[in-house]
Amino acid sequence: MPPRAEPRSRILGTGHFLPPVVRTNLDLERMVETSDSWIRERTGIRERRIAPPGMVTSDMATEAARRALESASLRPSDVDMIIVGTITPDMPMPATATFVQQKLGATPTCPSFDLSAACAGFIYGLSIGDKFIASGAAKNVLVIGVEMLSRVVNWDDRTTCVLFGDGAGAVVMGPANGDGRGVLNTQIFSDGSLARSLMIPGGGTEMPQGPDVIAQKMNTIQMKGQDIFKAAVKNLHSASQRVVDAAGYKNEDVDWVVPHQANLRIIDQVTQRAKYPQEKVLTNIDRVGNTSSASIPILLDESIRAGKIKDSDIVLCCALGAGVSWGAALLKM
Ligand code: ACO
Repeated sequence: MPPRAEPRSRILGTGHFLPPVVRTNLDLERMVETSDSWIRERTGIRERRIAPPGMVTSDMATEAARRALESASLRPSDVDMIIVGTITPDMPMPATATFVQQKLGATPTCPSFDLSAACAGFIYGLSIGDKFIASGAAKNVLVIGVEMLSRVVNWDDRTTCVLFGDGAGAVVMGPANGDGRGVLNTQIFSDGSLARSLMIPGGGTEMPQGPDVIAQKMNTIQMKGQDIFKAAVKNLHSASQRVVDAAGYKNEDVDWVVPHQANLRIIDQVTQRAKYPQEKVLTNIDRVGNTSSASIPILLDESIRAGKIKDSDIVLCCALGAGVSWGAALLKM
């Protein structure tokens, strides 16, 4: 077993934002041929949040970032890099992160960019932030996972519309201070052979936006659910094990598992394989649905604010999404 990892970066603060409008399974029963019991049994979801008209992705991201900075007792001017994991940007260009920079009042020259790794976007962001801080190229990095999936879901497609929700979560990262707390290890992966199993096919260069694309709803999410399900169980299990092993820890050392909230059955299968007791596995999928890259930072912040996750706890995060792209992170809080 490798020696226990010495973190180079740590989490200084967390925050999240959920839009106020709740759409329940009963609301969906009135929209498509589905049922509350089917959705709960197959996914664990009861309701999800939907952003109201007029709100955009960067609004939610900025609010989550403000709360994370507040909890870290830092000012926007202390941030020297902004990473936004999202597949639902305000617009294709420029990066949503630049709108966040401006709305937040962060340092006007700090590098701000979007990262497209779907549900794994937050883990990818943590991994990049960790490396920038470790190299000394950045001090305080804001990593945000944010999605407004309600605007890219086909609300006539029962196989996808019951799954997704809107929300934002954020962390502020800074240099580790030598007390052993921080990012112990991150692992990130992709397998492009499954790229077309989960996609928004229209609106890019392959199928530019136009009346046909809109009429055929090609600008909305299409998913081969079972392909993604199988890839998720296999890869989340292996990435989680790798991150724990690489950090020099054992599964028994993990205090909390904060998995991506895609489907309760995926979470159960992954955590049972690794023999994590159910009481260590945190979930909020029943209330928020699948918020893609926002899912882990929302759950992390909720669990910290609820007093569940405490200082020095070992937390395992793992996520898989479109690409497929996936990853895991081990943190000592
Ligand atoms: N209500 C009622 N029936 C439904 C619904 C619904 N909402 N959706 C599908 N069904 C039906 C199907 O038509 C099918 O009917 P049939 O047997 O008559 O053909 C039956 O239910 C079973 O469908 P399956 O697709 O086999 O259902 P499954 O158990 O696989 O659950 C689900 C579907 C929930 C989508 C699951 O496959 C899943 O969670 N996949 C992974 C999704 C995921 O993890 N995405 C993550 C990434 S998201 C991102 O990156 C943005």
